[in-house]
Amino acid sequence: MIDVISDLKCAADPARFAEEAIGFKPDQWQIEALRSTGRRLLLNCSRQSGKSTIAAIKALHRALYWPGSLILLVSPSYRQSGELFLKVRESLAQLKAKPQMLEDNKLSMILQNGSRVVSLPGKEQTIRGFSSVDLLIEDESARVPDELYLATRPMLAVSGGAQILMSTPWGMRGHFFETWANGGSSWQRIKVPATECPRISPAFLAEERAAMPDLFYQSEYECQFTETIDTVFNYNVVMRAITSEVKPFLEEVRRDAQ
Ligand SMILES: Nc1ncnc2c1ncn2[C@@H]1O[C@H](COP(=O)(O)OP(=O)(O)OP(=O)(O)O)[C@@H](O)[C@H]1O
Ligand SMILES: [Mg+2]
Repeated sequence: MIDVISDLKCAADPARFAEEAIGFKPDQWQIEALRSTGRRLLLNCSRQSGKSTIAAIKALHRALYWPGSLILLVSPSYRQSGELFLKVRESLAQLKAKPQMLEDNKLSMILQNGSRVVSLPGKEQTIRGFSSVDLLIEDESARVPDELYLATRPMLAVSGGAQILMSTPWGMRGHFFETWANGGSSWQRIKVPATECPRISPAFLAEERAAMPDLFYQSEYECQFTETIDTVFNYNVVMRAITSEVKPFLEEVRRDAQ
């Protein structure tokens, strides 16, 4: 009876699931990310802060407690999708009551309750074809090609599924930056610089700061979207130059011709 109640509490609270069922004690921001129930979540976090671990636990929680769910994990490369899927497996291995599997492959699993977890590398050909996704998690989002991101968005249309983009920044470009900077208030944003990660010591960060060019340190550890080195006009200059008062040239010509 106690197990049933404890399981119900884990079902209702993914942070509790992490702690009680997997034996993983999440940091405060990880608790917030696990408990987030919004449809759109952005995690802009330092290297090694624990993004992928949270992605795996969130995926597993959804798969276990929402029968018939389809969870897609998208990573930039084949190797990274394998690493991420391994984290799902590692979390699963910690469960006392392991679910029955209908299928168990290198990058995907189907649970007996009908839920599927699929970890995919960032190639549009492999992604197209999935529909009605309930949870879509893009890991290392700043490195996932924009066309892939655009191909995945419609998969949530019918299911009304949730989407999580998680990454360390990689310059002022691409969908991760655009969504963070201009994506609007429908996205919940969580930012975790390395100084807020209890497992990264100030001494290590001091060494890294000394060893790396500023641009890299700011991206990797301070969650900053830096200008890329080859930028001709900086982002703020370009944004300041954009005005709705000047219409596109061709639009003006067409209007005059009518
Ligand atoms: N709350 C936690 N308690 C203890 N260890 C943790 C916690 N969160 C993450 N870790 C550990 O920190 C390490 C980094 O975690 P993870 O790979 O999830 O981070 P990441 O942000 O995805 O890193 P990267 O930027 O390199 O992809 C792993 O060894 C993981 O087990
Ligand atoms: Mg990671």
